[in-house]
Amino acid sequence: MYKLIRKILFLLPPEEAHQLSLFFLQVICSTPFTRRILRNFFEPAKVSPVKIAGIQFRNRVGLAAGFDKNALHLRELSCLGFGHVEIGTVTPQPQRGNEKPRLFRLPEDNALINRMGFNNDGVVTIAKRLKQWREEVQPNVDLEKPLIIGGNIGKNKSTSNEEAWRDYEFCFERLHPWVDYFVVNVSSPNTPGLRALQDRSFLEKILTGLQKRNQEMKKSKPIFLKIAPDLEWTQVDEVIELVLAIGLDGLVVSNTTIRRDSLQTAPNAVSRMGAGGLSGAPLKERNTTLLQYIHQKTNGKIPLIASGGIFTPSDAAEKFNAGASLVQVWTGFVYEGPAIAKNISEGSS
Ligand SMILES: Cc1cc2nc3c(=O)[nH]c(=O)nc-3n(C[C@H](O)[C@H](O)[C@H](O)COP(=O)(O)O)c2cc1C
Repeated sequence: MYKLIRKILFLLPPEEAHQLSLFFLQVICSTPFTRRILRNFFEPAKVSPVKIAGIQFRNRVGLAAGFDKNALHLRELSCLGFGHVEIGTVTPQPQRGNEKPRLFRLPEDNALINRMGFNNDGVVTIAKRLKQWREEVQPNVDLEKPLIIGGNIGKNKSTSNEEAWRDYEFCFERLHPWVDYFVVNVSSPNTPGLRALQDRSFLEKILTGLQKRNQEMKKSKPIFLKIAPDLEWTQVDEVIELVLAIGLDGLVVSNTTIRRDSLQTAPNAVSRMGAGGLSGAPLKERNTTLLQYIHQKTNGKIPLIASGGIFTPSDAAEKFNAGASLVQVWTGFVYEGPAIAKNISEGSS
């Protein structure tokens, strides 16, 4: 059934297809009756909850950052069997992002290329929306165990790297009451210079500042760091050292890649798409290698969330075997459809 829907959606430009699918999902989910039907259909059966960084996740499959950047579709997404949804990346000021087109499909590779550029409504609006979700909507969502919400935070394009820590703190403080965990995003390739924040000096300033603020709060929230798959091994070692020294709660491995090797799509078609982050199947192997490396190097001391090329239960099992505690999907959702969380949860547990 989804194969047919996908054929139709793939006739549209990717970003418009994404918006249209979310619009239809919203329409379908507009009554308690239809939401119950969807939930009965997509909720994974017999899956044990897992505890990571002190949080109980009702299953191990989440929706990666960038899918619901503005926290507009939590009610609908809660009907599709996800254990968690990571909203964002959220920045202090609203941003329009890069010029369209900025999202491209590579069907021969089961992949996407995007250069969205942190288009989002800004943290003040998004925090208001989350407050409303927590206070008015979530209490009426008929789930046995709550959907966990992650807040993925970043900096505005106009903020220099020297001042970036202020943007992260601003977003952290505004979202703190409303999300269950945080992800510090320093690894998106679509904000110029952002990935340089993975250098030790910048990273140390941002993360120690956030940890300090976190400890001053009544209830601290777990903080994860999302890294790029393109880091050199020496940089990965530095990140590991820092995460252990600061006592960060874990890593999200990983964001999209700027590499374009071993693609089936014709090279001139790929180069016409231009700059951006490549996601989906071509990311899978590098991602697993990175997870394995970090897991082995730290004897499993750092909780890992895998994000990169997960489509099937066996892809997810590969990530769990490499040391991940949770998996997240994005490109897999586009290619496999709305039953992806159920299929992976049931097939890999
Ligand atoms: C269109 C698009 C937008 C994304 N936006 C974000 C974002 O705002 N923040 C972020 O941390 N990751 C973002 N990502 C990266 C995903 O969260 C994920 O880490 C990456 O796509 C690898 O997973 P996948 O192979 O399952 O897609 C985005 C990915 C796509 C395809």
